Amino acid sequence: MQQRDNSELELPDYAIRNRKLWTRANKRYTAEHARESWEQDEIRWGTWDVPERELGVLPDVRGLDVIELGCGTAYFAAWLKRAGARRVVGVDVTPAQLASAEELNREFKLGLELIEANAEAVPLPDASFDLAISEYGASLWCDPYLWIPEAARLLRRGGELVFLRNSTLVILCSPDEANVTQRLARPQKGMLRFDWTDEDGPTTEFHIGGSDMFGLLRDTGFDVLDFKELFAPDDATDHEYYVWVHANWAKRWPAEEIWRAKKRREPRGRAKGASSPELPEASSRDRRRPRSKP
Ligand SMILES: C[S@@+](CC[C@H](N)C(=O)[O-])C[C@H]1O[C@@H](n2cnc3c(N)ncnc32)[C@H](O)[C@@H]1O
Repeated sequence: MQQRDNSELELPDYAIRNRKLWTRANKRYTAEHARESWEQDEIRWGTWDVPERELGVLPDVRGLDVIELGCGTAYFAAWLKRAGARRVVGVDVTPAQLASAEELNREFKLGLELIEANAEAVPLPDASFDLAISEYGASLWCDPYLWIPEAARLLRRGGELVFLRNSTLVILCSPDEANVTQRLARPQKGMLRFDWTDEDGPTTEFHIGGSDMFGLLRDTGFDVLDFKELFAPDDATDHEYYVWVHANWAKRWPAEEIWRAKKRREPRGRAKGASSPELPEASSRDRRRPRSKP
């Protein structure tokens, strides 16, 4: 596993809190369950394992260079490597999660590259990948105004970003100190950072509404190709560990959503063959929040 100096000093406050949470979660659940996910023979999404064959949100990954941002125990990365990706890199900020991933990577001999880093500032060169993925990783635990530009920086032109996150609706129905209800519990206007406290201690998540996400992707140089709202299957039961939203709720309303976006081949407004110099690829220097955001 490649490591860099990731001392707490250089991480944002929320990454330090969330790393503590995922160290505990690794001990309580993810380490023990990683193997069954790695062994799974098909790609499935989210809490209720919706099969990719029903959704069709991924491009053909054969021969692609892929990065997973917030890979956890890296089962999704493993599925993509098995599906024919050429190079698969998993990035995560929690050493315990990467240790589980590394153990299975050795056993399954898949040759994943695992890097300990904040997915908002990945120590890899610009334009290194064809596909960036996040399934409840950076898509939830990182500031979207930082990690989406970072994904754009890491992607080649024409590369794709596919990520799963909680639906806006499920967040609006989530009171501060209880599971999801059938009532709106908070305003959507201005939503961005959520500091929660649960039995595992304090955590921080990021959620923005659909039109803000659409605008952020567009302004970061992506065209949105697909957007899917996920329901729990009819026969779904509550997840044994992630119990915050019940299956019965998610059978009626979408609790999860997947975005698929493609990095534009040409900078916006530039006609093919135009003689003026190309704009640079998105770079880490461009990581800036719009001034109007809270
Ligand atoms: C729910 S897991 C995602 C992996 C897997 N798809 C899953 O659903 O279990 C969330 C992962 O995000 C990681 N994470 C949280 N904040 C991060 C950050 N700033 N940079 C990179 N990874 C982060 C956590 O360490 C954790 O392993």
